[in-house]
Amino acid sequence: MAKIAIMGFGTVGAGVAEVARMNRDVIASRLGEEVYVKYILDVRDFADSPYADRMIKDFSIIENDPEVEVVVESIGGAKVALDFTRRALLAGKHVVTSNKELVATHGRELLEIAREKNVNYLFEASVGGGIPVLRPLFQCLAGNEIEEIYGILNGTTNYILTRMVKGGISFADALKEAQAKGYAEKDPTADVEGIDAGRKICILSDLAWGKEVSPAEISMEGISSIHLKDVDIAAAAGYRIKLLGRALRLEGGRQAAYVAPHLVSESCPIATVDDVFNGIMIRGNAVGDVMFYGRGAGDLPTASAVMGDVIDAIQHRAKRRDLGWSQGADLVAAADLPMRWYLRGDFSLDDARTVCGQAEELAQGAVITGTMTEVEAKAAAEKLGAVSMLRVL
Ligand code: HSE
Repeated sequence: MAKIAIMGFGTVGAGVAEVARMNRDVIASRLGEEVYVKYILDVRDFADSPYADRMIKDFSIIENDPEVEVVVESIGGAKVALDFTRRALLAGKHVVTSNKELVATHGRELLEIAREKNVNYLFEASVGGGIPVLRPLFQCLAGNEIEEIYGILNGTTNYILTRMVKGGISFADALKEAQAKGYAEKDPTADVEGIDAGRKICILSDLAWGKEVSPAEISMEGISSIHLKDVDIAAAAGYRIKLLGRALRLEGGRQAAYVAPHLVSESCPIATVDDVFNGIMIRGNAVGDVMFYGRGAGDLPTASAVMGDVIDAIQHRAKRRDLGWSQGADLVAAADLPMRWYLRGDFSLDDARTVCGQAEELAQGAVITGTMTEVEAKAAAEKLGAVSMLRVL
């Protein structure tokens, strides 16, 4: 029997306990031994929980119990979670997490400790919720040079955008719904302003190219300033507005990563990813485009990925999975990437062509420009008096 501890009994932690209970037999038959939740650590009281007898408040009980092999960290944030993760790894325990903030900001250091202590630090659930995407990236696609990754990495904002377009409800009401369903972060700013998606695109970049890209280094823009009018114009012209995380490998091994809303043509499969679902496209130089799709948030989907890592950690007790990345990514700013832009304002197509050189009309006063950098697009938007400016994938 493999004994595990869960730290943090919120949406994800409770989901992990539930998956361990509901799938106990199938997990035991696959692994050849049962996975037993010995402790659940939380500062709150859960007197009525079926796990009340295993609830503890003192981390050192887990740290000092040699029977606990795997610790699931679902506390979130990068303070207490960082301290407990470091200590659990130093105590020789495998750690599995869904905590994208911690992996994106301290993953390199924690993986280094895991390497020194010969244990696993696994974080499949930190990107794409229940979608298997990190393991396919670092394992199944290891024979490729990864050229580009882009996708919908935040379920809350995708849910909000979908409900606004299809349900005609306000941004505030859609956000409340997402929070009630347990998709949003405690502070929804991280979702709405693109920070959560930013952490995830950093983790994908770290694994794809082996160089650390930290959230502080990249530009992140959310959906709070999207106008419904632009959503409607885009839809009528065959585009959907989606919040995308995007990472690219450029010439000479340089890299770029950013988060921003984009117009995505309906002919691209990513445009059809709705509600809380995430969709991630990875382009490898041998495989071409591969898309990963599924539930990007929620208790059981996220717990599914966590439990997969718990099983993998136990299967790699003796020979750990060799994961890690170094410092020194050579980053190009998102503002310097040439791309097409959507501009809307009180201008004619002729005006747009005079200013931008090239422009395709989507509606009266709404165009898609030719390829230009953000600085050039901003200058064009200013000359045209544009009120909206968005990237086009
Ligand atoms: N708040 C996140 C989201 C949870 O909405 O995608 C999953 O990481």
